[in-house]
Amino acid sequence: MKEKKTFRGLKLYKVSMVVLAVLLAVGFTACGDDKGGASSDTTVATGLTVEHRVNPMSTGTLTPRLSWKMKSEGRGQYQSAYRVIVASSEYILSGGAGDVWDSGKIPSVQSLDVKYAGPALEPQKTYYWKVKLWDQNDMELDWTDAAYFHTGIVDQSEWQGQWIGLVQVPDVYPSPYLRKEFSLSGEVSRAYLYCTALGVYEMYINGEKAGKDEMAPGFTDYNKRVQYQTYDVTSLLKKGDNAIGGILGAGWYTGEHAMNLGHLRVYGDNPCLLAQLKIEYKDGTSETMVTDSTWKATADGPISSTSNFDGETYDARKELTGWDKPGYDDSAWGTPSTFSYSGAIAAQKDQPVQVIKEIEPVDFWESGSKPGVYIFDLGQNFAGKVRLKIKGEAGQTVTLRHAEVLQPSYGKDPAGAAANDIYVGNLRTADATDIYTLKGEGTEVYVPRFTYHGFRYVEATGLSSSPSKDTITGLVMTTNTPVTGTFTTSNELVNQLQSNIEWSLRSNFFSVPTDCPQRDERAGWTADAQLFSPTATYLVDAYAFLGDKWMQDMRDAQNSETGEIPNIVPDTNLTPGTNEWNVKWGRVGWADAVIIVPYVLWQRYGQTDVITENYQAMMDYIDSVSAAAVDYIPGDNYYAWGDHLNLDDETDKTMLKTTYYAYVTGLMSEMAAAVGEEADSQTMSELSAAVKNAFGQHYVAPDGTISTGSQTAYALPLATGILDESRRQSAVLNLKFRLANNGGHLSTGFLGTPCLLPALSDNGYLEEAYDLLLLEDYPSWLYPVTVGATTMWERWDSRKEDGSYQTTDMTSFNHYAYGAVGDWMYRNIAGIRADSPGFRELTIMPRPGGGLTSAKGTLESVYGLISSEWAETASSFTLSVTVPPNTTATVCVPGDGNDSVTEGGVPAADSEGVTELDAVDGYRRFSVGSGSYSFTVVSQ
Ligand code: BGC
Repeated sequence: MKEKKTFRGLKLYKVSMVVLAVLLAVGFTACGDDKGGASSDTTVATGLTVEHRVNPMSTGTLTPRLSWKMKSEGRGQYQSAYRVIVASSEYILSGGAGDVWDSGKIPSVQSLDVKYAGPALEPQKTYYWKVKLWDQNDMELDWTDAAYFHTGIVDQSEWQGQWIGLVQVPDVYPSPYLRKEFSLSGEVSRAYLYCTALGVYEMYINGEKAGKDEMAPGFTDYNKRVQYQTYDVTSLLKKGDNAIGGILGAGWYTGEHAMNLGHLRVYGDNPCLLAQLKIEYKDGTSETMVTDSTWKATADGPISSTSNFDGETYDARKELTGWDKPGYDDSAWGTPSTFSYSGAIAAQKDQPVQVIKEIEPVDFWESGSKPGVYIFDLGQNFAGKVRLKIKGEAGQTVTLRHAEVLQPSYGKDPAGAAANDIYVGNLRTADATDIYTLKGEGTEVYVPRFTYHGFRYVEATGLSSSPSKDTITGLVMTTNTPVTGTFTTSNELVNQLQSNIEWSLRSNFFSVPTDCPQRDERAGWTADAQLFSPTATYLVDAYAFLGDKWMQDMRDAQNSETGEIPNIVPDTNLTPGTNEWNVKWGRVGWADAVIIVPYVLWQRYGQTDVITENYQAMMDYIDSVSAAAVDYIPGDNYYAWGDHLNLDDETDKTMLKTTYYAYVTGLMSEMAAAVGEEADSQTMSELSAAVKNAFGQHYVAPDGTISTGSQTAYALPLATGILDESRRQSAVLNLKFRLANNGGHLSTGFLGTPCLLPALSDNGYLEEAYDLLLLEDYPSWLYPVTVGATTMWERWDSRKEDGSYQTTDMTSFNHYAYGAVGDWMYRNIAGIRADSPGFRELTIMPRPGGGLTSAKGTLESVYGLISSEWAETASSFTLSVTVPPNTTATVCVPGDGNDSVTEGGVPAADSEGVTELDAVDGYRRFSVGSGSYSFTVVSQ
């Protein structure tokens, strides 16, 4: 769970700090002047981001944070100084001038979150910037390519328009269409559209959609905040007549979300739109056009209903052809109603939800029970929707139902009725059905706008002829976070497990980190996100999504009086007292996400802003737990579900609470120290020690058994580091004993599962950890893989061994919580570990085992690419590593003092940029700066 709490990790951390000091003191030339050296020709800066995004269209702040990476293939490279220039045009920037800001040469190693420090920036303006670096030898490097950022609307007072929509008749929720024509007097040089909706929306200008976003403005607690988007629409406008329009859907605002327990239309009754188009002319003048009651509106269009859970209904005969172009006759349209909104309208801080991939069906067939009905298999479970391509008669209706799995009898009784039909029992009340009525005009293409489903199979009813593969195309939707990690091994089942983890991340990073994408839930469950965050941060750059966006949602959701955090963020607790679900605040392991997620983000991305921004929220939360504790043992007011979905292996709930209490106060102590809050750090450290002590007294018996037992009762305290050294051995032996008593299988639920492998492997039982990971029979991580899973399951037995599904209605085939094992795979199989925040100091120490003969992991860290690739034969072990500039690494290869270790074909100790440290615990350890290295160990 934590980066540097393991016994081995702790030692490496200390060594690494010493090594960094030595390397910096001697300019990375630890073994003489002939080592280390000048920058190679390829050295530049790269990977420019602003507010943690590439070329963001709304920073939402006038002091944005700028980051970059040094890119170099040379060894021992680091930045000794930087210079940032910011210009008002790309042309000025290309001349090397920063007419807005020139930082000058700043001697500094900082490359993350450098705050803009020039003269005041203006809102609603685009700036261009680049950076140049000086390397460790003070050699000046080339400028980077140009990057840009748009400040966007920064202050609420900049919004000039009105919220417009239509008052909807209860129980009938067709999508409103809104439009306006206007004439532009001059040649447009730049145009920006700032827009948002209560509901979901798409904007069109002269027949083209603005941007590529889906389900904008995304999910927030609309009572407090709605995000707006900015689109550069310069190319869509022209001198003369133009038309602009928007379409609205229910989305999370009026639609269903999170549990469907009476939560329909909780935020408001009527979706509405706010837009502001800023047009800059080539002659230097500008004008602004906004939504107001001069627009026209109709709900008499093709989209008769939209719902995240139930799907979209579309009648192509009612299409409003040309509605978004000038010259359309809108005389039958009415005047929109105007609405008011008192929440904050804030710039979107994370990447938008977009379609990132298209998937062709791998197969399709006619239903066994319903002639003329076809099932399409897309071969992959995912979140998104489909594109339907079809010819037919006007009025013909095609119904598309989405499902994750087929009937349980599928494959067993192919001749039986319904054997090859879809199974929708696990969707609960979500209909997941899109309905399209044809207009009867040649080939028709339909893509639903305002819904998404979690599915692999699509059942199409109403096709007039046999379909072909291109009748259905899958469109994969996700919050478009940049991919940062890859991971493969010599074991194909493990590779499929990795793929399943990646797909579940893609399916559940959807504006908020959700639990599942298919049933009537799709909520920001806090435990799911905190448990998975260590894995997620290897796979994608999740800083903007989790840190900037979701932690804001978290602060919005916090109980301002008590500091408590809800179980779901954004919370759906909008009508206190009316719904039992919301009576209690967050449970142990759920609410603690407020501490754990910032901690993980700080460790993985190295930026302390995530600590300062959430500092008060975190301290208030800890106060709420402390208020519920007596003698350091949290009582009833700190709630617990327990080890959710464990297999008949319950863990004492108060013990869980005490463990988490000790754990998160320890994390808080580290975070407080990192931002200079020494007194708080001390208080938290003492509190954590006191809780650990209370834990020892209450729960650890003299013979070393813990509480009432359970695998989690041992794994969780071990992995969270709350057991005294003297108690670790007996705890790990007890864990082994309990595993053995369970036929070598796990029985843990959400909270215990991520701890199992670290508890074993960090306490002397690496092979046992591999044994558990590689088990193929139920219950295990690989069991779903062996029966064809393409995403992680919610339950170990979402599909039982006899092929039937759980009869409970809570069975998702796309839940990433058990995918938390990915963190262990990266840290142990690929062997990539952060020793200090952001991987500025790192260890590459693959720990081969389990019969694996090779593995490769890569991580595009905030400093650049980290790579670890190893292969083992009977007599040798090779390890190729890449270490990014601005970092130092401890590289560990298996072997003892007698083995011969070479790097690049020469004895490792003589190799350029490599310093041998020692031989410890079966590893030869070397210190390196940036660069690529290839180690070979030959047993003597
Ligand atoms: C969700 C979970 C969540 C849990 C809380 C479920 O319905 O799908 O993933 O954490 O409830 O018990």
